[in-house]
Amino acid sequence: MKVLVIGRGGREHSLCEKIKSSHLVSKVFVAPGNPGMANVAEQVAINEGDHEQLVSFAHGQKISLVFIGPEQPLVEGLTDRFSEAGIKVFAPSQKAAEIEGSKTYAKELMIKYGIPTADYKVFREFAEAKAYLDQCQIPIVIKADGLAAGKGVVVAETRAEAEEALREMLLDEKFGSASSKVIIEEFLDGEEFSFMALVHGDLVIPLDVAQDHKRAFDGDAGPNTGGMGSYSPVPQISKDVLDTAIETILRPTAEALLKEGRSFTGILYAGLILTSGGPKVIEFNARFGDPETQVLLPRLKSDLVDVVVRLMQGGPVELSWSNQAMLGVVVAREGYPEESREGVQLDLPNDLGDLHLYYSGVISDAEGNFTSSGGRIFLLAALGDDLEEAQNKVYDCLNTLKLPGLFHRNDIGFRAIK
Ligand code: AMP
Ligand code: GLY
Repeated sequence: MKVLVIGRGGREHSLCEKIKSSHLVSKVFVAPGNPGMANVAEQVAINEGDHEQLVSFAHGQKISLVFIGPEQPLVEGLTDRFSEAGIKVFAPSQKAAEIEGSKTYAKELMIKYGIPTADYKVFREFAEAKAYLDQCQIPIVIKADGLAAGKGVVVAETRAEAEEALREMLLDEKFGSASSKVIIEEFLDGEEFSFMALVHGDLVIPLDVAQDHKRAFDGDAGPNTGGMGSYSPVPQISKDVLDTAIETILRPTAEALLKEGRSFTGILYAGLILTSGGPKVIEFNARFGDPETQVLLPRLKSDLVDVVVRLMQGGPVELSWSNQAMLGVVVAREGYPEESREGVQLDLPNDLGDLHLYYSGVISDAEGNFTSSGGRIFLLAALGDDLEEAQNKVYDCLNTLKLPGLFHRNDIGFRAIK
């Protein structure tokens, strides 16, 4: 069968690699993809937002299954367009994707169904928000309601910082209509982890656990980004905690969406914090995480396409995982996550041994040389017998590369590797 993947980042690169390895798949297309993915998929020059063209391409090519990587097309209803055209797609409908598209919707759902999450209040008016803030304990978390590419969250260590975030979102509309509503949320203290599941209605098949380093700089300092590196598994998170998260969060959420008439198909991603009262939700996403996917899929021994096809037929499905650990480091343009500047030329060796290289922000010139475009450029990852071995392999290699105009963190995995 032929498969179409929508998106253009490192997550989609690793998804295409995994899909290509399926015994069911003869061809993988990626729209629009990036030139770094040529080893695993054929690029199709249609953007994620061109829904009509994507559907007509899928029709013309007799695509059997579609995967959608990023959140924007999900909340814009791309899944519904494919479904209406009779094309099978492993992604949530627009209504189900609201669990990611609106933080207030996700919060209301969690409260209604008793799914553990941080206490919060929603505001549209600056003066009211400020008055509430004055009674809150610090640190406190300020979140834009809508999509802001992972950047609409401020964990404020001081009142002044919290007030500034409220001002930017509610008065200056920093994220446009996405920040016309804000959430002021209790700060949860504890280890953070990403727990995803393949979901179809009330069938919930958890993936293994991963952790993402979201802050830009070493020591988990600096601004929030889309993610600077990741690893899997996460030894600080025990099997008991994962079982609790499945029973109190992943399953109840899939069941709640079903009851609400928003039956979920696709990847349900729970961003969790292990508090002293057990795991609690800080966010839901309706898709694979980036860069978590890049360190999970190479550890998955099962055939992903076979699994998804069987899941969408009603199961049963079991996943099998490698005992090896995987760790990946994002290389980004200097200055990220602030606005992008000129692209920089990339000069990577062709042979990186057994390391995995997943491209995100690259374009190709007439000679086939890659130039950076956007903030995160690529992720370099390695499998190892344990996380320490994987970490050594990645940094040994990164230290030999010439990366002018780019930067990466030097401590990915530090919470797990003592
Ligand atoms: P989000 O986009 O909601 O995942 O938030 C971005 C980052 O902010 C998360 O990965 C956490 O590190 C942090 N964060 C969000 N909400 C909270 C919270 N309630 N308590 C502590 N940290 C949080
Ligand atoms: N790595 C976090 C995300 O994909 O939202």
